[in-house]
Amino acid sequence: MPEQLKITVGVAGGIAAYKAVEVVRQLQDAGFDPHVVMTSAAERFLQPLTFAAITGHKVLSSLWSEDAGASGGEFSGIDHINEAQTTSALVIVPATADLIAKLAHGIADDFLTTMYLATTAPVILAPAMNVNMWLHPATQANLETLRERGVRIVEPGAGYLACGMVGGGRLAEESTIVAAVSETLANPGAYRSDLTGETVLITAGGTREPIDPVRYVGNRSSGKMGYALAAKARRRGARVLLVSAPTALEAPAGCELLSVITVEEMRSAVLDRLPEASLVIMAAAVSDYRVARPASEKLRRKGPLTLELEPTEDILREIVERRASGTTVIGFAAETEQVLDNGRAKLERKGVDALVVNDVSGTETGFDSDRNAGWFLTPGETIELPESTKTAMADRILDHALALRMHRYEMKQAN
Ligand SMILES: Cc1cc2nc3c(=O)[nH]c(=O)nc-3n(C[C@H](O)[C@H](O)[C@H](O)COP(=O)(O)O)c2cc1C
Repeated sequence: MPEQLKITVGVAGGIAAYKAVEVVRQLQDAGFDPHVVMTSAAERFLQPLTFAAITGHKVLSSLWSEDAGASGGEFSGIDHINEAQTTSALVIVPATADLIAKLAHGIADDFLTTMYLATTAPVILAPAMNVNMWLHPATQANLETLRERGVRIVEPGAGYLACGMVGGGRLAEESTIVAAVSETLANPGAYRSDLTGETVLITAGGTREPIDPVRYVGNRSSGKMGYALAAKARRRGARVLLVSAPTALEAPAGCELLSVITVEEMRSAVLDRLPEASLVIMAAAVSDYRVARPASEKLRRKGPLTLELEPTEDILREIVERRASGTTVIGFAAETEQVLDNGRAKLERKGVDALVVNDVSGTETGFDSDRNAGWFLTPGETIELPESTKTAMADRILDHALALRMHRYEMKQAN
């Protein structure tokens, strides 16, 4: 863990606010540099001076700093935007029912709630409240909304509560909250909302080309990689259009599912929705051939049968040709030999921004497995995607896609 990473500790107005002092101390012990933001209700429970003295940093609580705009002084920037952009994580201890509701609904009427909307850093909430407030459907629905948007919730424990009741709603242990911060930062991407505002179009599964009304030519793709990408992109805040050939999987929550069977259906769904997408990831295994003349009735066994196959449309090429200039396109290649050479040749042939190449010759990774490994190829780089679960690999692919786009943007600005 890099030393002195800045962490913003948001403190809201609940009885457990005093426990935030210990969380701040433990974050320092873990090598972080905590800065504190308080709501005005929190200031009723604790003096900002306590946190200022421990952290050595001014405690932020008002959107309207006294010297901003005052004559004579230099304007030092907008505090809540500065804080949002310079922090590595926002952890809120305790998160009150009120604050959770505000975050879920995008209300931005004080420093902490405004900063929350303005940050793309991971956000971790440690709720604490009376058991009935905790169990209230409004609180639970708000938490679900935040979870879906990629916010990490450190679940409260059960026990004796300050209000005199016994039950759920007791702030998690301070050490558990600090461990959640460390773990979140060790898994880049897992809890970020850095795809907010993006529309990501993902294809998944293996297409099927009919031979007759009951048989088809297909492939071994399970759809797991594409579905993992869709779930992760959604978690990171994107609107996700999942164009899926048949799979045995359940569509990830919050994604718009467009079910297709053949290459032609996939092509028309993808091209139809392409204008909406800022990032396209073609993880589907698309059939290269279709049966030239599928039978209209079920074929009966009568000696040898020869099927004539004809090439299907090259969807990836068409996407690259038709996309808007700001749309990033990432292809996938499943290779069984000369994996990197074949991958690089495909990258150039298709003109995509990047290509994820998998070696599907083994049994431990690739088709139908929960694990994968490969490379993320761009015209200038070969980046290894070490063996991991498809879920973890999905985050890495999204990280590399965003880094590639940022690099291109910087190059453009420099020229
Ligand atoms: C003595 C007292 C204790 C409170 N404890 C909690 C609590 O533990 N959790 C909670 O969600 N709200 C609690 N509240 C209610 C909040 O303080 C109230 O909803 C407030 O508006 C929260 O503001 P904030 O979310 O901006 O910090 C408490 C209120 C009082 C007066």
